[in-house]
Amino acid sequence: MSDAEARAAAVQTCLRGLLPEDVAALCVPVRDASRALYPEERAAIARAVPHRQDEFSTGRMLARQALARIGHPPAAIPADDRRRPVWPADVVGSISHSSGLCAAAVAPGGRLRGLGLDIERIGAVPDEIMAAISHPEEIARHRATMPEALLRTVLFSAREAIYKAYNPLTGSYLDHRDVVLSLGGTAFSARIVAGDRPRLGGADRIDGVFAEAGGMVVSVVAVPAPSPTR
Ligand SMILES: CC(C)(COP(=O)(O)OP(=O)(O)OC[C@H]1O[C@@H](n2cnc3c(N)ncnc32)[C@H](O)[C@@H]1OP(=O)(O)O)[C@@H](O)C(=O)NCCC(=O)NCCS
Repeated sequence: MSDAEARAAAVQTCLRGLLPEDVAALCVPVRDASRALYPEERAAIARAVPHRQDEFSTGRMLARQALARIGHPPAAIPADDRRRPVWPADVVGSISHSSGLCAAAVAPGGRLRGLGLDIERIGAVPDEIMAAISHPEEIARHRATMPEALLRTVLFSAREAIYKAYNPLTGSYLDHRDVVLSLGGTAFSARIVAGDRPRLGGADRIDGVFAEAGGMVVSVVAVPAPSPTR
């Protein structure tokens, strides 16, 4: 097993532990999976550089494998004009790539209303950008709990997972500094501090979980579907 395969296996195991049992999640090293793309997917990525094409095609391949695991037939997952994956109507999902790995997760729409997934290499987030993507109190409050390179990566990765769940549900942009994050164990909770941003289900907070595996931070936001009324 190559180093990349070992890291991917660690991330996949971690992801499955973070997500509800009936959510399918996979992670593999990025490869050329373009032969399995649907025409509308191929069109979305035709002009990108080869590495970006590989990231995209690996994500689509994994997403279809994950669809199969939840009993869904194969389907095209095109990208909309803002790069968001267009999932089949009865499914929610999320894709992430970083440092040569790609991960995808999908869930039946009756189980989750929204899903955001992010993987990020620990150390990939330099100190110089922290002022633009976080609040000083987040670093101050959590500095004693983990090494700073890990903390920076968590503060960044959690926000990406939040955005991937939040944006498709609300249609609204959310800036990194529109939320303040609190960490506790493997949980994170984001308080929306920008007064003009829509809330998810009326709540001021968006909750998620994170963990470290294969040299990466793995972050997940799973927004539950409303319980069926009797
Ligand atoms: C989209 C974004 C969240 C992550 O993109 P990235 O840096 O390339 O990182 P990743 O590889 O982890 O994720 C890319 C994947 O996210 C998915 N994606 C892109 N835009 C998305 C959106 N608006 N909503 C949900 N998923 C999205 C796509 O599947 C994409 O992969 P693909 O193009 O191969 O299909 C980021 O670039 C972005 O646009 N951020 C906006 C601001 C923000 O993050 N705010 C945080 C607020 S708390």
